[in-house]
Amino acid sequence: KRVAIGVDIGGTNTAIGVVDPEGNVMVKNSIATPAHGNIEQYISDLAQAINELMESVKLLNNDLEFLGIGIGAPNGNYYSGTIEYAPNLSFKGVVHLIELLRNHFPKMEALALTNDANAAAIGEMVYGGAKDMKNFVMYTLGTGVGSGLVVNGDLVYGHDGFAGECGHTMLIPGGRRCGCGALGHLEAYCSASGMKRTAFELIVQYNATDSLLANKSYNELDAKMIYDAAVKGDKIALEVFEKTGAWLGQGLADTVHYLSPEAIFLFGGPTAAGDFIFKPTKENMEKHLLPIFKEKIKILPSKLKPGDAAIVGASALVWKELDK
Ligand code: BGC
Ligand code: NA
Repeated sequence: KRVAIGVDIGGTNTAIGVVDPEGNVMVKNSIATPAHGNIEQYISDLAQAINELMESVKLLNNDLEFLGIGIGAPNGNYYSGTIEYAPNLSFKGVVHLIELLRNHFPKMEALALTNDANAAAIGEMVYGGAKDMKNFVMYTLGTGVGSGLVVNGDLVYGHDGFAGECGHTMLIPGGRRCGCGALGHLEAYCSASGMKRTAFELIVQYNATDSLLANKSYNELDAKMIYDAAVKGDKIALEVFEKTGAWLGQGLADTVHYLSPEAIFLFGGPTAAGDFIFKPTKENMEKHLLPIFKEKIKILPSKLKPGDAAIVGASALVWKELDK
């Protein structure tokens, strides 16, 4: 049986899985993404974890052929196999990820890196809700906001391979500082971390000491807590979703004007809040759309299984590579 390895490099953790051709994760593991320090050490830890995982899955089935390793990472570049100046990773400058990993896997047929949101888009295309779509967009809402653009059936890479950085489009001139250093980017408002900032701002603005979200530290608070509070009718939490939806809807409208997609998929922690986030997002997107687009664009939750989605998406890159 031919299988692929999917790796998702995130801000705190790197998740690794062996994935079968139907998109089922057979085994998985994770290692810490370093908060600082030695890239070579990290790559060799990653290689070791991949090797251990391959050994462990061979115990279940000794008839496996490992065809490749697909990796998704913030600011990952498919063309050069590098991760460059990632705002939400500790890696500085340019990391030659594929070159370094190739030393550990000289015989592996496919070794490929792409942007994490691109990997999610490929996963949606191969295994998720976009199987029959030729034009769609994937937005990932996490520590950052990523996007993957699929146009005429293909992922858009652009001249240098970095196309689709919708999280860094301008939303509020002179607004909040983004992880990349600039002011007012969509990511600073619509990411899971942006939602936390909104919650804190609103608590201060209304002096809402009775909110379920009051007296929480920044590190304690997460999208799930905001959702739980909204379910209980907490005014601050409800307003966080209203505002996030208004901002995101505005950003999505821009994306629609550029690309005329059939659908926009939303992926990531905040999307577990369902209507709390989808409803205001859709309403506000519609408000900003030209009449030619109105009521035509679907906003859909990703159909990939939450816990495994990033690994599965990254593994799908392997099949795409072998298909070429
Ligand atoms: C990065 C993107 C990435 C996104 C989600 C953004 O800050 O610029 O490359 O896809 O975060 O991780
Ligand atoms: Na992208």
